[in-house]
Amino acid sequence: MLCGEIEELVKKAEDALKNAYAPYSNYRVSAALLCEDGSVYTGVNVENSSYGLSICAERVAVFKAVSEGQRKFKAIAIVSDSPNIPPLPCGACRQVLAEFSKDTLVVVKTPEGLFKGELKDLLPYSFDFTK
Ligand code: THU
Repeated sequence: MLCGEIEELVKKAEDALKNAYAPYSNYRVSAALLCEDGSVYTGVNVENSSYGLSICAERVAVFKAVSEGQRKFKAIAIVSDSPNIPPLPCGACRQVLAEFSKDTLVVVKTPEGLFKGELKDLLPYSFDFTK
């Protein structure tokens, strides 16, 4: 992916960050998921008084995309409004992403700049029913 395309995806995640609902952790996260056909689905974390029902931004983006018929993901950009703690995707989100595309590029905004890694490197030996 070109640098410009990645920057554009990060910007889309940043634009959606205002919708994050995180009154309990106060850690707001937003993700923008780029699909094979060029469409982009955003997602934010949505927390709940019953903490365990909260969901991460990445999974919201994936579930929105899949429920609209998307199955192949080129990249996901993830940002937070915390200057210090980068929103690296949790294990559950890595597994959910791996269900659809193991070579998805994961881009995370960190204090040092953009972290970029392929999903298969972030989640080696993922569980896969199809194998
Ligand atoms: N969170 C995400 O949405 N994505 C990440 O990559 C890391 C963590 C959320 C879950 C919870 O609402 C809050 O951040 C603190 O863990």
